Amino acid sequence: MPASETPLVLLHRDGRLATLEINRPEARNALSFPALLQLRECLAELREDSSVWAVVLTGAGDKAFCAGADLKERRSMSEGEVKEFVRNIRATMDDIAGLPQPTIAAMNGHAFGGGCEMALSCDLRLLASHAMIGLTETSLGIIPGAGGCVRLPRLVGAAKAKHLILTAKRCSAEEAKSMGLVHEIADAADFATATSTMVQSLLANGPLALRAAKAAIDGSLDMTMDQALEHEASCYQRIIPTADRLEALAAFGAKRKPNFQGK
Ligand code: COA
Repeated sequence: MPASETPLVLLHRDGRLATLEINRPEARNALSFPALLQLRECLAELREDSSVWAVVLTGAGDKAFCAGADLKERRSMSEGEVKEFVRNIRATMDDIAGLPQPTIAAMNGHAFGGGCEMALSCDLRLLASHAMIGLTETSLGIIPGAGGCVRLPRLVGAAKAKHLILTAKRCSAEEAKSMGLVHEIADAADFATATSTMVQSLLANGPLALRAAKAAIDGSLDMTMDQALEHEASCYQRIIPTADRLEALAAFGAKRKPNFQGK
């Protein structure tokens, strides 16, 4: 990317936290092809970075978290280019879901289409109380193709997912919270504090334990019970030789908070 061009995705680092910010507020943070590629570069960097213990995804400005795929860019695409875009946006969501660190979608505004799919790929979801969320693709003659038809039913159940996807419904934050689509909602004025509280609730815990617990849950979803329990056991094994585990035991005995090092 030429130095003079504004980045479409910003990567902020603050101690153990990395925040990815989609930076196209004038287009309501819609995902253009160049934005997707920049996002994937950032995700590849974070995946390998053991100094990052949690990742937040958010959008620039206060209007939208992300308005989904860039529909203006789409108009000039050939069928082949559309296929290539869909392959890339799906892979991007897989990259998000595959991050070893816990992830938070901090939805400071509307989340539609690919924006909602991006949130579905995260572990925790916080939505501004004025914002709407939904998989609106069928209203545009297409379907959610970046994991929405797969991740939404696993999250809220097939019946609710069909209702949302087949009606292209735009849900209020309250509706989204009541069906379990988002974990928490917060007023715009309190949104930064709510995000920070959610982040701190992760960073207070053992970072290797967070990675192992995430792997234990994600890895076992499509397994039989026996396989899943074996998988959980293997994730636990990874934690046993860690200094953080011993530090937590020492801290418990000394009635203090553990000082985790990620080792
Ligand atoms: N792709 C490209 N551009 C988009 C976009 C998208 N998905 N969503 C919004 N924009 C653009 C608008 O075209 C507009 O551009 P303009 O200033 O050149 O006219 C600009 O962003 C602001 O959009 P606007 O609709 O005026 O803003 P708003 O704050 O009133 O509403 C939304 C924001 C997100 C509610 C509304 O833009 C919207 O519904 N977008 C489509 C969402 C959607 O269905 N996405 C699914 C894609 S598969």
